[in-house]
Amino acid sequence: MSTEGGHADTALRLTLPEPLPKFRAPDDRSPEHEMSAIIAVDRITKRYGGLTVLDACAFEVPRGSITGLIGPNGAGKTTLFNIIAGVTAPDHGRILLDGQEVTGQKPHELFGLGLARTFQIPKEWARMTVLENLMVVPRQQTG
Ligand SMILES: Nc1ncnc2c1ncn2[C@@H]1O[C@H](COP(=O)(O)OP(=O)(O)OP(=O)(O)O)[C@@H](O)[C@H]1O
Ligand SMILES: [Mg+2]
Repeated sequence: MSTEGGHADTALRLTLPEPLPKFRAPDDRSPEHEMSAIIAVDRITKRYGGLTVLDACAFEVPRGSITGLIGPNGAGKTTLFNIIAGVTAPDHGRILLDGQEVTGQKPHELFGLGLARTFQIPKEWARMTVLENLMVVPRQQTG
């Protein structure tokens, strides 16, 4: 790694995997496809010891929608996000992404299918430059 330019030796160089994940082209514009759920949570149950955090939780996120999830502290929102994002395994139930079951897939595999997760409290990579931090976003992200 080059040491030119002062602190370059401490900066991580961002290398993107080759080939980049292929995102499915939105080629199906049929009414059935447009109406179908982009994410389906199918009877997800998650227990921590004797505490049932999610009990056969089920809902669908409509394609193209901006959907919120609200609930009191400790309701299980983060647990559910972690399960959808592949960070936490459910005890029962399935997650479907664009009609395809993705339960148990790892976050980087889900990223390859177009699912990216952001966090409640932003945390930058301190050893990377501002530009490199900004580059760590999904491709085709418009907002
Ligand atoms: N890894 C874990 N081990 C044991 N219990 C956990 C674990 N993660 C979460 N819990 C418990 O599961 C419940 C749901 O927690 P969770 O963080 O999902 O709630 P939340 O809706 O995101 O709450 P908040 O609004 O405070 O962010 C809480 O009672 C929490 O203590
Ligand atoms: Mg939370």
